[in-house]
Amino acid sequence: KSRLVLRDGTTLDELIDVDMNEVSMRVMSDEELYAHEMERIFAKTWLLLAHETEIPNPGDFVMRDMAEDNVIVSRDRAGEIHVMLNVCPHRGMKVCLAEAGNAASHRCIYHGWAFKSDGSFLGAPVERERMHGDKRGKEELGLKKARVHVYGGLIFATWNYEGPTFEEFLGDTKFYFDQLFCRTDGGLEMLGPPQRFVLPCNWKIPGEQSGSDGFHTLTLHRSLMEGGIMGGTAESIYDNAPGMYGVDISCKQGHSLRCLEAALTFKMFSNMSFEGKTVDERLHMLPPPGITPELIPQLYKHLSPTQIEQLATCPPQVGGMFPNILFAFIFAPRTDGGASGALALHTYVPKGPNHVEFVNFIFAEKDAPEQVKRDMLQNSIQQTGTSGTIEQDDADTWPQIMRNARGVMGKGMTLKYQALTGHQKPEGWYGDGLIYPGFTKDDTQWNWWLAYRDLMSDA
Ligand code: FES
Ligand code: FE
Repeated sequence: KSRLVLRDGTTLDELIDVDMNEVSMRVMSDEELYAHEMERIFAKTWLLLAHETEIPNPGDFVMRDMAEDNVIVSRDRAGEIHVMLNVCPHRGMKVCLAEAGNAASHRCIYHGWAFKSDGSFLGAPVERERMHGDKRGKEELGLKKARVHVYGGLIFATWNYEGPTFEEFLGDTKFYFDQLFCRTDGGLEMLGPPQRFVLPCNWKIPGEQSGSDGFHTLTLHRSLMEGGIMGGTAESIYDNAPGMYGVDISCKQGHSLRCLEAALTFKMFSNMSFEGKTVDERLHMLPPPGITPELIPQLYKHLSPTQIEQLATCPPQVGGMFPNILFAFIFAPRTDGGASGALALHTYVPKGPNHVEFVNFIFAEKDAPEQVKRDMLQNSIQQTGTSGTIEQDDADTWPQIMRNARGVMGKGMTLKYQALTGHQKPEGWYGDGLIYPGFTKDDTQWNWWLAYRDLMSDA
């Protein structure tokens, strides 16, 4: 199944070699392929835009991008959330120019056509002259609307009304993502507006890394382990860095999660063991990242016993949703020996074949104590995003790969996904999906490419 052929005759099968598990570096810089991605991936699949705590009140809105299409994410008077294309149906001007705010309606500055907070057409100035004409009824003059789904407060949208439901999109990984996004009464809260910055690289460079590339932490982020910011010590990094071992999960939709052994983390923080402890005792000894002791009873209300056991034993901590989301819900060691969390989620929004906008959303549980939220905001800012110790490393690496993908020789090189172990579900494992236990490998990133290939093949 591969009908995509580029103008020079190159096929998708030549770019993504499933026998050798290699991807041509040309895919990182090719403009023609980028145009196909916009249509076959970004206009077709579910994209993360915002969190509902950003727009709590009727009339609240934020401006976001679905790839290169600018949209308004708005809450209408009845409290419902809408996503509409920020293109005036009159002559194409942006209807909304503010990044965020509250407005009962949006009025285009060009000729003054106005739209309600649900996107429907409100009117044009000088109504008696019928400045919107009479060829179309008012109900046809609204803003173009996307299909919306709110999951655990996260606002997703797609232009594809016929495509998979959001549940189908998550597939087997819903069981795991629910442990992060749907576990408490109040759910997550965004701590301030997202950080945004543009990097000179193709969206797929951070994109494929978000397919749970754990391997790079050993080397690229080594200094952080040495400094105690990430798990592991200088002497033991190659042997028992807790972040290297666990169970990697993925699915044919390309999403993935790295579930890391809590016992290893706990031992590192406290030099104590979980031996002989019940699930509840373990939860209290080392609550999952972002959860505080007072929130633990809420876990029992929202999650199944199996999900809770996983959270206490091997919680999902990093991973991504295809095509362009990364999450890092990680333990953040404190100098007093404890560990509060850092909860961050990024989207890598394509801005042409050579640029990506990195959008960093920072969360805490809404019902967490204020002091904990402040702590967690600090943790996330220190570790992820613009100034984060972890992601400065990544943001320095990606543009170098991009530069290589533009050279005549560089383009001809391949990315090699050869550390593959194949799906093997451990005895008694909690959920479904494609499962890869042990030391982190390339399997989940390769599955990311298979999901990419799948969508790109489909005309
Ligand atoms: Fe918006 Fe004319 S372009 S009113
Ligand atoms: Fe990294």
